[in-house]
Amino acid sequence: MSAELLVERDDVAVYHASWADLLKVLPRREDNTVCDALIVDAPYSERTHRAHDAASESAGGRRVLDYGAWSTDCVREFCEAWVPATRGWFVSITDHVLAPSWAATWERLGLYVFSPLACVQSGSRVRILGDGPAQWSTWAVVARPRTAAFAKWGALPGAYVVPPGHYDRSGVVGGKPLWLMERLVEDYTRPGELVCDPCCGGGRTLEAALRTGRRAVGGDAMREHAEIAADRCGRRMIQRPLFAEGS
Ligand SMILES: C[S@@+](CC[C@H](N)C(=O)[O-])C[C@H]1O[C@@H](n2cnc3c(N)ncnc32)[C@H](O)[C@@H]1O
Repeated sequence: MSAELLVERDDVAVYHASWADLLKVLPRREDNTVCDALIVDAPYSERTHRAHDAASESAGGRRVLDYGAWSTDCVREFCEAWVPATRGWFVSITDHVLAPSWAATWERLGLYVFSPLACVQSGSRVRILGDGPAQWSTWAVVARPRTAAFAKWGALPGAYVVPPGHYDRSGVVGGKPLWLMERLVEDYTRPGELVCDPCCGGGRTLEAALRTGRRAVGGDAMREHAEIAADRCGRRMIQRPLFAEGS
């Protein structure tokens, strides 16, 4: 499969592409990077996929996962390709099985890695291990280059608690709430920077980046998902709402 460009504007591009093909087509900057920050919500482990689907099937089977799980090797291959291509922060939303693989791989590649941050719904009885018919919860593993500019970034949260009324999904099974993605984008990037999500699903990271004044590029290996992302970024209103708080 090669990369097919579905949407391109001044501030966003969306491809139907595997992450490997996406990396081949993105323009390299003078320092050989392609983006300022990588914020990715790649597939979870086999264990979580199985538990998710078993729970979904017992509830009528409408939301089984339509893409394959990732292994430690998938994480390693992905990081080895994308770390040299990224100038700033790395955020991976993942499960308890793969979180140590993301952290260990980034550490080996020279990044400073933080302990994983829990991302949970406010007021829920959180089942943090992702084993079954749980309310939604996940981990964000975060890393940065070991340079002074990133060490002085400022105070960062130890967890993300998604408030009631913000549990919306993206149209892709496993999709994330916009609220969470906006917080991650705001915490780990600066306005105007280029955020990349090479496994963008329904395009939540890209949407969050655009709504917070960043630029965004993303791709997904599944056409159906990439089309949802393209639709979200290309054809819907993605500015901040006119009367948004603080605007
Ligand atoms: C958890 S979902 C992302 C959901 C997204 N964050 C959202 O809110 O809609 C993971 C995505 O990774 C995609 N994916 C899996 N392997 C991939 C690969 N090798 N290259 C690009 N995308 C891939 C899947 O098709 C799926 O859409």
